[in-house]
Amino acid sequence: MSKCLVIGHRGAKAYVPENTLESIQHALDFKVDGIEIDVHCCASGELVVFHDFTLDRMTNGEGELAKHTLSELKTLKVAQQFAIPTLNEVLNLIDKTCLLNIELKGKGTAIATCKTIQHYIETHGWQYSDFLVSSFQHQELETVFKVNKDIPLGVLTKANMVEAIVFAKTINAKAIHPGAAIVTRDNVKLAQSKGYDVNVWTVNDEETINRMKDYGVNAIISDNPDRL
Ligand code: G3P
Ligand code: MG
Repeated sequence: MSKCLVIGHRGAKAYVPENTLESIQHALDFKVDGIEIDVHCCASGELVVFHDFTLDRMTNGEGELAKHTLSELKTLKVAQQFAIPTLNEVLNLIDKTCLLNIELKGKGTAIATCKTIQHYIETHGWQYSDFLVSSFQHQELETVFKVNKDIPLGVLTKANMVEAIVFAKTINAKAIHPGAAIVTRDNVKLAQSKGYDVNVWTVNDEETINRMKDYGVNAIISDNPDRL
């Protein structure tokens, strides 16, 4: 059985506020195999690393993130002290030291993400295998697949592994990314028998970590990557 990879969720969310460079650095310090981040397009076109569609929960700003330019977003504080990073800043920090799982949140993120990945492959020595682009939004994944068939894709699902497996075939995905609540030994086996990795989120407690490892999942995405 291959090793179960450890992927830090939004960096190391349990220790440092999510999706910040500091959280990502904390995960890197744990020697994770990968880091998961969320991306949106902001009003000036750049990709920024942030989970929510609105600014209210995590920053001192308010309203829809997509209506703000990068320079406006850069004036805000995440959890009173951190900055909202761009995808480029995250790539420069990680600098090929681990896998980067980019979760496409907002509409229109696919094309900008493809361009960024291509740029980092051509000019910074990254490889396609350093990336995994995932989304709950099938349309964004289809766009990535149309634009660049070499980018590894993951189909996110919180509801139905079988539907995700059916969709995965249409975009030649590398992996299924199910929420832990829907994972069973049988559906892990089914996905893997069809050639897909199973990367499960968000698994933080010891009992579930051990159960997922026992099922033979390929990766665990965790707020507490050190527990793995
Ligand atoms: O990519 C795994 C996980 O992050 C999906 O859900 O809401 O935490 O982005 P969410
Ligand atoms: Mg996510």
